[in-house]
Amino acid sequence: MQNLQGAGAVVTGAGHGIGRALAARLVAEGARVVVNDLDEDACRSTAEELGATAAPGDCSSDAGVRALVDAATATLGRIDVFLANAGIDRTQPDSLQASDEDWAAMIDTNVMAHVRAARALVPRWLGDGGGGRFVVTASAAGLLTMIGAAPYSVTKHAAVGFAEWLSVTYGHRGIAVQAICPQGVQTRMLDQAGPLKDLLTRDAALTPEQVADAWVDSLADDRFLVLPHPEVGAYYAARAADPDAWLASMRRLQAKVDQLTGAGQ
Ligand SMILES: NC(=O)c1ccc[n+]([C@@H]2O[C@H](COP(=O)([O-])OP(=O)(O)OC[C@H]3O[C@@H](n4cnc5c(N)ncnc54)[C@H](O)[C@@H]3O)[C@@H](O)[C@H]2O)c1
Repeated sequence: MQNLQGAGAVVTGAGHGIGRALAARLVAEGARVVVNDLDEDACRSTAEELGATAAPGDCSSDAGVRALVDAATATLGRIDVFLANAGIDRTQPDSLQASDEDWAAMIDTNVMAHVRAARALVPRWLGDGGGGRFVVTASAAGLLTMIGAAPYSVTKHAAVGFAEWLSVTYGHRGIAVQAICPQGVQTRMLDQAGPLKDLLTRDAALTPEQVADAWVDSLADDRFLVLPHPEVGAYYAARAADPDAWLASMRRLQAKVDQLTGAGQ
């Protein structure tokens, strides 16, 4: 089991929500933590409240990631754990008409941020022989699909796919990789989900702290998939066992949503 006591940890998107809770739990476990967020004020106030170090900035661009990794390495000496948590959802009522700009922004933040962070970190971890832990906050939308949200579902599938590839490729060389895949979590993102909020909270929405607890619990057996909502494991198994039956049930759900929102009338 990874010992977090004294570990050097970085959390992106830690100004609010799940990232903030992950950072708080890391501090409580005795880790030395660098928090990042695009929202500079939120980043600095999180750092001050938790006793962490602020490294505000964009964790999705290549230059932003490299600046973050350099700043965090200067502060921590070594990054042992990197939590690529920042994510965005620009879902509009008609996902098919989402603009190229929205697709590009979500691909950048929900996928390329992880690719760029791994690109900066993995060679360092392999080079110093000390291993490392790379944790992606993906989503249940990356294992199943999210009704009404094409760019979010597609980019979260890519996030899980990239994490899986990293685990396959570097796991035997001492690099641990995990994907946290929650359903509804009580954060600003859920508040902004509009008509989808009811659907996302059909199974109880968790607090960000419960997600952070689920991640720390997962370290005991080093599971790749961290499922704070255990029911997601059952849905994922059902999807794999019979994709057509699963799709039929999702279509029934979509039809109910169409009725509620008056879509297609
Ligand atoms: N809330 C949910 O129901 C839910 C469910 C499943 C997965 N997730 C995922 O959890 C992660 C955290 O989401 P949250 O619910 O805490 O949302 P949130 O909006 O409360 O927090 C996300 C934080 O990321 C920051 N951020 C966004 N883009 C950034 C960038 N380029 N660089 C640095 N910081 C950036 C934001 O400023 C914000 O502080 C996301 O990846 C999200 O997709 C959320």
